[in-house]
Amino acid sequence: MNMRTQVGIVGAGPAGLLLAHLLDRCGIESIALEDRGREHIENRVRAGVLEQGTVDTLDEAGVGERMRRQGLVHHGIELSFNGRRHRLNLRELTGGRAITVYGQQEVIKDLINARLDAGGQIFFEVEETSVHDLDTDAPKIRFRKNGEAHEITCDFIGGCDGSHGICRSSIPAGVLNVFERAYPFGWLGILAQSKPPSEELIYCNHPRGFALFSMRSPEITRLYIQCEPDEEIANWPDDRIWQELELRLGVDESIRLEEGTILQKGVTPMRSFVVEPMQFGRLFLAGDAAHIVPPTGAKGLNLAASDVHYAAEALTGFFKRQDNDAIPAYSDKALARVWKSERFSWSLTMLMHRFPDDGAIAARFQEAELDYLMHSEAGLRSIAENYVGLPLDFAEDRPAGARLHAMQAGAGR
Ligand code: FAD
Ligand code: PHB
Repeated sequence: MNMRTQVGIVGAGPAGLLLAHLLDRCGIESIALEDRGREHIENRVRAGVLEQGTVDTLDEAGVGERMRRQGLVHHGIELSFNGRRHRLNLRELTGGRAITVYGQQEVIKDLINARLDAGGQIFFEVEETSVHDLDTDAPKIRFRKNGEAHEITCDFIGGCDGSHGICRSSIPAGVLNVFERAYPFGWLGILAQSKPPSEELIYCNHPRGFALFSMRSPEITRLYIQCEPDEEIANWPDDRIWQELELRLGVDESIRLEEGTILQKGVTPMRSFVVEPMQFGRLFLAGDAAHIVPPTGAKGLNLAASDVHYAAEALTGFFKRQDNDAIPAYSDKALARVWKSERFSWSLTMLMHRFPDDGAIAARFQEAELDYLMHSEAGLRSIAENYVGLPLDFAEDRPAGARLHAMQAGAGR
């Protein structure tokens, strides 16, 4: 079967679904393809922290109603060193901005519902997806569904198929510059039926390694433990998990770690990865298809959202205003923000983890850095404004004072 659309989208993760939705709001049609089933992607537990800008984007796009009701708005986070906790007051340090804890799979559910309600087309469980004629005006996507072959002729293709997708690898050799760093550890992620130890997230640097205490609701906690990059889950029976978390958190009278039923465990290796440029011909890469961050800064999902904001802006310029400069500008615009989140995620990863062969001096460097950051207004503000997320127009040329003023004016919306 042959179809035609303006934008063919490969991948129905946060990047693909939000792109389809933003385009629809601007009167641009799209078809999204997803190789997994709807139930699978609606239940895949991944990120949980939404930056202020992501919340605003979802709200302005009309898909924020449940997030506003069920998301947990946080005005602070804690950094713990050797059991001593230091709070960062995000609200004060950023002129009223905040983060919202709302699971990625909930964002996915909201976006799928919005797409289907609006009559949008998503093909689930597609097979053998491939992209063709990328450097022509009529790129094509081929795939099979229920054994039948299909082809979609598009004006543009959104490569939103994550880090293992086919879009990035369909770009001819020699076009992309690849920047990559692997870290010598992974995160063991745990979802448990228990009250989170604190109302706010606690990031812990401990001689035994990093731990993170997050949540999904007042009854469900989301926990992470630094582990080997290729760790076997079998090495982590439930008792060991709770024991290790308690040690790394440094439980005292002000905080109690409540044990509960462990619902899910999984290991995520950690790496920084970026390709430049994020486009080739009529193919745009967005989200994990173009870059990966270590999850320490909680940036993966948020970058997917900002990429597609810029992609939708470029495509709207092209289709609605016949602006031929909008398309080539996409990559530079997206990368300016990507690199700032990559840098922040790398630096928080370096500050909060124990590196296997670094010796005692590395821990002293980390302690000195934390001591500096916690006692410097500039240091605190730098972490806070990166953590809540830089504004989408941050990289545009204007003085820092004007930018701060604009952030404060936009805060608390
Ligand atoms: P994805 O969410 O990966 O979506 C891509 C979609 O494309 C998928 O649904 C996939 O099934 C589909 N697809 C792939 N290939 C094809 C194909 N050939 N044809 C059709 N469809 C295809 N970030 C954080 O900030 N905090 C976290 O705790 C965190 N935990 C994570 C845990 C795991 C296991 C992983 C993999 C990622 C995690 N991330 C985390 C990162 C964050 O979830 C991602 O940055 C985010 O999902 C990126 O969205 P995306 O839409 O670009 O990619
Ligand atoms: C999460 O809640 O899953 C989470 C929170 C903060 C991070 C990473 C993951 O930095």
